[in-house]
Amino acid sequence: MAALLSVKDLTAGYGDTTVLHGLSFDLEEGGITAILGANGAGKTTTLRALCGLCRRRGNIAYAGRRIDNLAAEDVVRLGVAHVPDGRGTFATMTAEENLRLGAYLRRDRTEVDRDFDNVYTLFPRLKERRAQQAGTLSGGEQQMLAIGRALMLRPRLLLLDEPSFGLAPLVVQEIYRTLKVINQQTRVSILLVEQNATLALDLADHAYLVETGRVVISGDSETVKADETIRRSYLGY
Ligand SMILES: Nc1ncnc2c1ncn2[C@@H]1O[C@H](COP(=O)(O)OP(=O)(O)OP(=O)(O)O)[C@@H](O)[C@H]1O
Ligand SMILES: [Mg+2]
Repeated sequence: MAALLSVKDLTAGYGDTTVLHGLSFDLEEGGITAILGANGAGKTTTLRALCGLCRRRGNIAYAGRRIDNLAAEDVVRLGVAHVPDGRGTFATMTAEENLRLGAYLRRDRTEVDRDFDNVYTLFPRLKERRAQQAGTLSGGEQQMLAIGRALMLRPRLLLLDEPSFGLAPLVVQEIYRTLKVINQQTRVSILLVEQNATLALDLADHAYLVETGRVVISGDSETVKADETIRRSYLGY
């Protein structure tokens, strides 16, 4: 498969602080790629750099064109949807209003209506709670809403920042199962940032381990799972 996203020598940071020091990785079209790493390794910064949300330099090619000079909104226009850590749903808006916001760039109303149905089929709980203020949803429901909102863009690439964070194991399982369905049904490519390596490696087909802003291990998930460092430091056996 061809690379949908190809990142070369990415440096990124905030103000005077540089967090990524020449990060390189590829992501295959239609696949699920995981970025693993400890707290502060630069996982969130990697997603922010791809979206144009922090200072960055380097070569980011997406769908055959450079996007490293684009403003954040133009990256979204190319079909890159970002589910940030902490989810970023709008607390005082209803669940349905949050979903509608995800489609704000689209003019194909019939298709948008169809995507509402799709999101509600994927996450029936959101349908039940469509009129509820997002801020009063449970953590799991808010994560579902954040993913649902991203899907309303009908993205070609979905960036997910720790979708398991702070959630009970059963909810995490439910969300991960749904991510697999989403990937299979829509063929959307997924770049998943996770601290929970076991979860991420079960879902992803490829993975990269980032340490202090550099990729130190990469390969298909089975190879990464078998790596001694990964096993000892991230899988815990
Ligand atoms: N807005 C900011 N201004 C200055 N430094 C920042 C900012 N955001 C993050 N950093 C620093 O960048 C480094 C990497 O942070 P980042 O959030 O990318 O890590 P992470 O791998 O996502 O960690 P975690 O697993 O805890 O989410 C950290 O040292 C952090 O303190
Ligand atoms: Mg993070």
